[in-house]
Amino acid sequence: MKLAENFLDIVRKSRYAVVLTGAGVSVESGVPTFRGKDGLWSKYDPDEYATKEAFERDPVKVWRWLAMGIELILKVEPNMAHIAIAELESLGYVKSVITQNIDNLHQKAGSKNVIEVHGNTLRLRCTACSYREIINMVPNNIPPYCPKCDAMLRPDVVLFGEALPYEEWDRAVDETSKADVYIVVGTSGVVMPAAMLPLIAKGKGAFIIEINPEVTSITRIVDLYIDKKAGEFFSEVMELLSS
Ligand code: OAD
Repeated sequence: MKLAENFLDIVRKSRYAVVLTGAGVSVESGVPTFRGKDGLWSKYDPDEYATKEAFERDPVKVWRWLAMGIELILKVEPNMAHIAIAELESLGYVKSVITQNIDNLHQKAGSKNVIEVHGNTLRLRCTACSYREIINMVPNNIPPYCPKCDAMLRPDVVLFGEALPYEEWDRAVDETSKADVYIVVGTSGVVMPAAMLPLIAKGKGAFIIEINPEVTSITRIVDLYIDKKAGEFFSEVMELLSS
């Protein structure tokens, strides 16, 4: 409990706490990470399924793979980490959550100010016009087509080789620059440009906290490293909040 008490003390005294999350925050919800021995990239070659070129080469193959992700994401629920982060926002301590995840679980847990730098699998966008659609089931026909212009629809997520959504990235940098406490949860910190965010926060003088059961490329710059699984650690935080 000592670490959770220390964490909560720092967060309560903060002026502007910001959270950055990666795949690790959703592991205890049943969503796999990308890297590591059970990670998605150990089963699926990203060059075949997750790049801009792969989608241009064979959109149906990439779509079918993304559809499996949509199916999983529709079934999973937020864990204690998502719930506690949302609670810390509703209490006014956490000002925003920047996530590299595309699983919608922060919003499902109640977080309001979520910045999705890699998009969201439950939103489709037209490959030709500005049409967007929120989905709550896997489309019946893959690929689906735009009801406005007949071009192909695709999940509104960032594939390797594609630019990040400009507005989200801009907001992410802005929020990161304002933070005096920056909480990094469950990311390996190797995918650019998101991996730059903790460095930006550090450069602006923020106190950096990392929650990850494994040491990452970010660990060397953090001020407080919490060597725990996110769901387990945030359960302790929730207990303290409700005591
Ligand atoms: P990674 O798969 O690279 O890293 C997941 C991190 O989560 C690792 O550092 C693990 O140690 C940690 N982890 C595992 N279980 C955890 C738990 N229970 N609690 C806390 N941490 C845990 O995933 P990301 O860093 O999110 O991008 O990957 C970044 C980007 O690379 C993704 O958004 C995706 C991917 O390719 C795109 O697809 C554009």
